Amino acid sequence: MRFASVVDAIGHTPLVELKGFSPRPEVRLFAKLEGHNPTGSVKDRIARAMIEDAERSDSLSGDKILLEPTSGNTGIGLAMIARRNGYRMKAVMPENVSRERIMLLELFGAEVELTDGAKGSNGAIERALELAKDPRYCMLYQYGNPANPRAHYETTGPEIIDDLPDVDVFVAGLGTGGTLMGTGKRLREHNPKVQIVAAEPRPGERVQGLRSLDEGFVPPILDVEMLDRKLVVSTDDSLRMTRELTRVEGIFAGFSCGAVLHVGLRVARQMERGNIVLLLADGGWKYLSDELWTRSLERTAADVRDKVMW
Ligand SMILES: Cc1ncc(COP(=O)(O)O)c(C=O)c1O
Repeated sequence: MRFASVVDAIGHTPLVELKGFSPRPEVRLFAKLEGHNPTGSVKDRIARAMIEDAERSDSLSGDKILLEPTSGNTGIGLAMIARRNGYRMKAVMPENVSRERIMLLELFGAEVELTDGAKGSNGAIERALELAKDPRYCMLYQYGNPANPRAHYETTGPEIIDDLPDVDVFVAGLGTGGTLMGTGKRLREHNPKVQIVAAEPRPGERVQGLRSLDEGFVPPILDVEMLDRKLVVSTDDSLRMTRELTRVEGIFAGFSCGAVLHVGLRVARQMERGNIVLLLADGGWKYLSDELWTRSLERTAADVRDKVMW
């Protein structure tokens, strides 16, 4: 495919069948590989939509500084487009995000402010809301911006329908809720019986990019009524399934993808037949230095040594 710019190349990601995980031939699993976006995650879609929206409404102009609380992916997408469009950018993130995220943001010219890791993404949100009182900043605020779910309604949903018209279940991680809301709405218009299923981390456990609603913050764009099910995943299971994706299917993805796969397999085992689409939000590159990844590699080495299969 040929595009006029890298921003136009956002989306159009592949939908790949995961035959190795299917519990029976009549139940088919497909993964939408969002790591194929220009900065490596699904968030390029919403970064483009939110910036274009703000430019149209004149809330973003040359002298403003873009500001965003982010666990990394949204900030990186925004920073790439900000650099191309000539805006300054500041990202506010918990200090325990992986080093690669900070490096990528700095590479695209963004300033990074780190907040208390123990407070997770809620700490970053609090700090960004405080900074946003200064009128020099333009905060697009993915948690409350309607352009976030709209980007998925206009791009992710139609792409899935084009590639696989009969989707029975759609599974995605719950972060801002934008993917689930926008894609879910579009898929449901196409097939009112489609099940929309969220993967949510167990309260107190960390899966980068995802959030537990039980920790007190419900994103304004999220309408929980839209979800048919919300299944909880542990950090360990997310990590194990992320490794399984690489081992079984050769797909190198981020930790939230392991959480989505874990939930997808639980749903698949309860089905007689049907098609399940899993949205895999990013590739694995930005996690390589994460201690969780190192721990999982050590564990694999031990398993190989002891001849234990995962
Ligand atoms: C790696 C990763 N997975 C999943 C999500 C969840 O997507 P959404 O914010 O659309 O709910 C995010 C969002 O921050 C993310 O960074």
